[in-house]
Amino acid sequence: MTSSPDSETIKSPQRRSWLKVLFGLVAAGTVVQVGRAFGTFLLPRIKENEFGSRIDLGLITEIPTSATEPKLYPVGKFWLVNNDEKLTALHSSCTHLNCMFTWDGNKQVFICPCHGSEFSRQGEVLKGPATRNLDQFPVEILDADNHLVVSSETGLVLADIPAEKEGTEAAKLKLCVDTGRKIIGETKAVL
Ligand code: FES
Repeated sequence: MTSSPDSETIKSPQRRSWLKVLFGLVAAGTVVQVGRAFGTFLLPRIKENEFGSRIDLGLITEIPTSATEPKLYPVGKFWLVNNDEKLTALHSSCTHLNCMFTWDGNKQVFICPCHGSEFSRQGEVLKGPATRNLDQFPVEILDADNHLVVSSETGLVLADIPAEKEGTEAAKLKLCVDTGRKIIGETKAVL
């Protein structure tokens, strides 16, 4: 039995409009996926002042003195330490199994609560099971326009900070730590 011409003419336009809707949905889905892919590619994945980026610590007038205890910056995951006028940013993660260590003001060492590793104020491993010095991040000085003035991978000597830089008063220079570039600590023979 064949269908009547009348029923065909009724079904065809309906089928076509369903197909249009289906194609429309597929096309919209594809556009969304492509847009997402471009967004992920073009937008920076790490926001400013988050771990993995350059952390702004404020004006250099805020630099801790060598008499100051090490200070933890949780956002940047580092301890800022002034050791005899050399500024160091020590990664706050133990080089044994990545626990967060703390500063013991009485013993003047960093102590890891997990397995007891100890590190000096300079980040040197003093007691195992850790066998590596603490990792570090570069410390930098930027001018008011965010141009790099001076940088050091393993501790910034404060005497190297220029008193002035092409019209920028020293008081306007900024202290930053680049947590996007980790300097791996040296391996040591520890008892
Ligand atoms: S994780 Fe620090 S001593 Fe094991």
